[in-house]
Amino acid sequence: MKKNLLMWDETLFRDPEVFEIDYVPEQFNHRETQMRELAFQIQPGLRGGRPLNSICRGLPGTGKTTSVRKLFAEIEETTKKLIPIYINCQIDNTKFAIFSQIYRKLSGHLPPASGTSFKQVFDAIARLLQKEETVLLICLDDANYLLYENEMNRVLYSLLRSHEAYPGTRIGVIMIISDMDVDLSRAVDARVSSVFRPSEIYFPPYSGEEVRTIMRERVMQGLYPGCLSDSMFDLVVEQTQKSGDLRVGIDLVKRAALNAERRASRNIDREDICRAYDVSKYLHLSSSVKSLKEEEKSVLRSLAGQSMKDSEMNAGEVYKTVKETLPIGYTRFYEIVKKLDAMRLINLEYRDGRGRTRVISLRYDPSRIIEDLG
Ligand SMILES: Nc1ncnc2c1ncn2[C@@H]1O[C@H](COP(=O)(O)OP(=O)(O)O)[C@@H](O)[C@H]1O
Ligand SMILES: [Mg+2]
Repeated sequence: MKKNLLMWDETLFRDPEVFEIDYVPEQFNHRETQMRELAFQIQPGLRGGRPLNSICRGLPGTGKTTSVRKLFAEIEETTKKLIPIYINCQIDNTKFAIFSQIYRKLSGHLPPASGTSFKQVFDAIARLLQKEETVLLICLDDANYLLYENEMNRVLYSLLRSHEAYPGTRIGVIMIISDMDVDLSRAVDARVSSVFRPSEIYFPPYSGEEVRTIMRERVMQGLYPGCLSDSMFDLVVEQTQKSGDLRVGIDLVKRAALNAERRASRNIDREDICRAYDVSKYLHLSSSVKSLKEEEKSVLRSLAGQSMKDSEMNAGEVYKTVKETLPIGYTRFYEIVKKLDAMRLINLEYRDGRGRTRVISLRYDPSRIIEDLG
């Protein structure tokens, strides 16, 4: 038996969990300032008052979600009076869906799927809060998804003015935004901005050295010693920095180790890493595509198909083709196109020509998009 071959029941993973997307690491450094600011903002909530509202803003992979998850875990260990509720707006992005999740967290079950009005759900939530005298702290993660659906104002209005309809209810909001271009002062209307005056907490990108330290910790925790040599670790760090997103780096280690296992090797080599990177670098694309609704997927599929013939497409022309297979009006079509642009899947540009034309191009290889659409 060759020494560097894995036996069939052996593995390179000491703990595969640490490479999962929702894993909350024990060790969490470099974000002390942001954690302290968040803790300050929520303090009134610990004394029965309304927590101050916050916005956490920073590029993907800068530790925003993890910071809030850590804070929420601490709150849950400390008190029953302040109830933190985490909402992933990529998944729940309508007012009704969000309040259903809040109701579920408070009561232990979802409201009946059909025949329940928003008001009934809200009434039930308010009754629970008033009876238990509890305060709510809602995290709206990836809240930019509420903008594409025009739900932002409706959600914030209901949450932040709840005390008007239901005296005694107290709700604070932490909003997470990964899109540096989103201008909330323009997105939020006057009725909301009069009650929503958030402090903004900025999450800067990690430095090269910080990325290296974080990746080092994760590898030591997740893999057995010796399977990733120093030079291969350097390569992983380099690729992570190139992608600009820690999530890509963490996914990359997982896939590289799986590739080595498939070869029954105890050592991850360059080829394992390069092949893994070809998949991991599309992490953003895959997770964005997964979050789309069927109608949106159809439009994207059609765009990808057409861009194989012509990489720059005129929005009006594209619509004519989409309409042949999908019965939607131009307004809805254009809303979807704007959403895909905001999600960084496509580019939407205005060109001066005969009138103002709108030109669409894809940000990814069309065949790759079609593959992800399944
Ligand atoms: N300071 C840190 N220490 C350890 N792991 C981190 C740190 N910051 C981020 N991570 C890891 O990087 C990944 C992305 O972090 P996340 O909180 O999801 O970022 P964001 O929400 O800003 O996109 C997660 O797997 C997380 O565990
Ligand atoms: Mg996040």
